[in-house]
Amino acid sequence: MRIAIYPGSFDPVTLGHMDIIVRASKIFDRVIVATLINKDKNAVFTADERVNLLEKSLIGLKNVEVVKFEGLLVDYAKKVNATTIIRGLRAVTDFEYELQLALVNKKLCKDIETVFLTTSPENIYISSSVVKQIASFNGDISNFVPKSILNDLMGKFK
Ligand code: PNS
Repeated sequence: MRIAIYPGSFDPVTLGHMDIIVRASKIFDRVIVATLINKDKNAVFTADERVNLLEKSLIGLKNVEVVKFEGLLVDYAKKVNATTIIRGLRAVTDFEYELQLALVNKKLCKDIETVFLTTSPENIYISSSVVKQIASFNGDISNFVPKSILNDLMGKFK
């Protein structure tokens, strides 16, 4: 069974993340969406809230599950028998950071490969930061996030 892990902050999940998850679910037998419990990052949503938003967004995707993790990604990947790390690439600006992450992870664990999926063009400008900024000014985020979590997100920024 080919198990992939898709790690991220998901603060909050966006249509860009959803696109990557759906496409990864067609390539791998099982996809584990792993939400980082980021203690040193100023997350707007708690880890549990982020997991909950992901779960609400992913209803119906049978081979996808949502977890939270802390510590090194490769350690968690080994624990759940994932052999592939999935990351989305939006533009060349993502590349330097993603390359570093992939190389460090490869050095830490040579048996785990990072696979990049290119973001679909319609999602190229979407990021969690953009969503948070628009929502904080009470703007319309309906084109950026799954419909099923729209009310939850706007509730947080009221
Ligand atoms: O959505 P993000 O914030 O770009 O995701 C970053 C993430 C979670 C993939 C990265 O911060 C991570 O893997 N953190 C866990 C700690 C780790 O394994 N670090 C080693 C690579 S530098």
